[in-house]
Amino acid sequence: MPNLVVRTRAECPEMKKAANAIEQAAWNDLGYLNYTRAHYAMYAGLLETYADYQLCLVDEERGYPVAVANCVPLSCRGIDGLPPEGWDWVVERAATRAPSEDADTLGALAISVPAIYREKGYARLMIRELLALAERRGLKGLVAPVRPSLKARHPRVAIEDYITWTDERGRSYDPWIRSHVASGGRVIGPCVRSMVVEEPVGFWENWTKQRFEQSGSYEVAGALVPLEIDIERKRGRYAEPNVWVSYAVAA
Ligand SMILES: CC(C)(COP(=O)(O)OP(=O)(O)OC[C@H]1O[C@@H](n2cnc3c(N)ncnc32)[C@H](O)[C@@H]1OP(=O)(O)O)[C@@H](O)C(=O)NCCC(=O)NCCS
Repeated sequence: MPNLVVRTRAECPEMKKAANAIEQAAWNDLGYLNYTRAHYAMYAGLLETYADYQLCLVDEERGYPVAVANCVPLSCRGIDGLPPEGWDWVVERAATRAPSEDADTLGALAISVPAIYREKGYARLMIRELLALAERRGLKGLVAPVRPSLKARHPRVAIEDYITWTDERGRSYDPWIRSHVASGGRVIGPCVRSMVVEEPVGFWENWTKQRFEQSGSYEVAGALVPLEIDIERKRGRYAEPNVWVSYAVAA
């Protein structure tokens, strides 16, 4: 096991650059998700505002990160109020929090591990680091709109059904939900419009390398549900479902 230390983006410009590179490498072909309204308008700004909340897991020998975790403090008022908007909501809520409104919860936005470093437990380690950060900052909980990785293999299965699937050991079928549950997270339920991208058909043709000449529901590599194309309006809409997971943080 390499010698791993946790640093933040706030520590130096080089760390910001490396963190961006790790995030891009991990998300790779899913770059269209950068075009939800919240992502496009607010995400980069939030990473700057809360640079000391953005964690990098650095391999000390190589002097370079192997994983990053992004999160923001927000005011949440309990899990009952968690909306179907998921990821976009966390970003908007954190970006528009009034100075008078105290943050009570850590909102997790992404854990990114490039393909060559996966299945080494780094992502689970980053979940633990997020919980430790929430505790240090006096926040009482952590909420995460979790992207169920293997849902991409079952784009036409309803998210409500998918999250009930289990493996032969009775654990969640989805490995990323499994990692959250193994870390003490509680599955609250789906957030069906977690990341919504609505863009011209040309945008979707660029990203997917597919042609869309008729309106309809199209399966797209990596997408968790089909992309809905409306040729009359010349638009395509992708509404990605995620899963709310919540954690209580020790006082
Ligand atoms: C989702 C993602 C972060 C998961 O990364 P990961 O490294 O595969 O995840 P984990 O650390 O949870 O480990 C997963 C598996 O490795 C196993 N593992 C854990 N520690 C291990 C170790 N030391 N050695 C070998 N395997 C280990 C885990 O047990 C788990 O397998 P299991 O569930 O069958 O038991 C990664 O796939 C990724 O970056 N994907 C793209 C971006 C993304 O979707 N991020 C999530 C957004 S919310």
